[in-house]
Amino acid sequence: MSDGRKRIAVALDASERSRLLELARLVGPAVGVLKVGLEAFCGHGPELVRELAALAPVFLDLKLHDIPNTVGGAAAAAARTGASILNVHAGGGAEMMRAAGERAREAATSAGLPVPKVIAVTVLTSLDAAALAEVGFAGAPRETALRLALLARQAGLDGVVCSPEEIGTIRSACNPDFLLVVPGIRPAGSAAGDQKRIATPRAAARAGADLLVIGRPITGAPDPAAAARAIADEINGA
Ligand code: C5P
Repeated sequence: MSDGRKRIAVALDASERSRLLELARLVGPAVGVLKVGLEAFCGHGPELVRELAALAPVFLDLKLHDIPNTVGGAAAAAARTGASILNVHAGGGAEMMRAAGERAREAATSAGLPVPKVIAVTVLTSLDAAALAEVGFAGAPRETALRLALLARQAGLDGVVCSPEEIGTIRSACNPDFLLVVPGIRPAGSAAGDQKRIATPRAAARAGADLLVIGRPITGAPDPAAAARAIADEINGA
């Protein structure tokens, strides 16, 4: 598998179980990771994750956010599905992030599963400075994202989800092995949809993203596997 392919996580955002499995079968061989989000998980639960994890590594994108004990328990249950990457919201605080990391690692180890990477969402890529100000976050999204990334690192997590615009700032403040997972990816000419802080696959790869989360530009294409392959080529040429 080319390096470009390994750096794509395809967002399987669909409601029908048959469509999710069809997409996974079509696109799985052309990407490194299958991302299961809230829509698929709420509809089909851990069984679907187990089924997909048998096909390719799964990023279980539940963005957990609650008190530390509750998130710790949920992270442990999520780890037992065999997912390779799990996430929480950094806004839940250091203690919550620490609980998620510790409980997920313990659960995977006792189940004899590989230990998943636990990462934190910094600032959603659908929020711009104005939307952040509305919910009480003063300052530029980049400063907020950096502050939350440093907190996640301090809490012992393996990396963060950030927008393309924050890759450089976070990468230079954290070790090269701190995982940067980046949604808001749009190949030139494709619709932004609800994403506000976006970049092309080439720009995000060049800036230092480890894993590019890409949904609609692949899943909404007439030939999703071909769309994924074209993006992998673009990453390889970055
Ligand atoms: O279709 P699109 O490429 O916009 O899909 C992006 C995916 O990444 C969605 O599944 C979304 O939930 C997820 N995501 C995001 N922004 C974050 C974290 C995750 O868009 N900050």
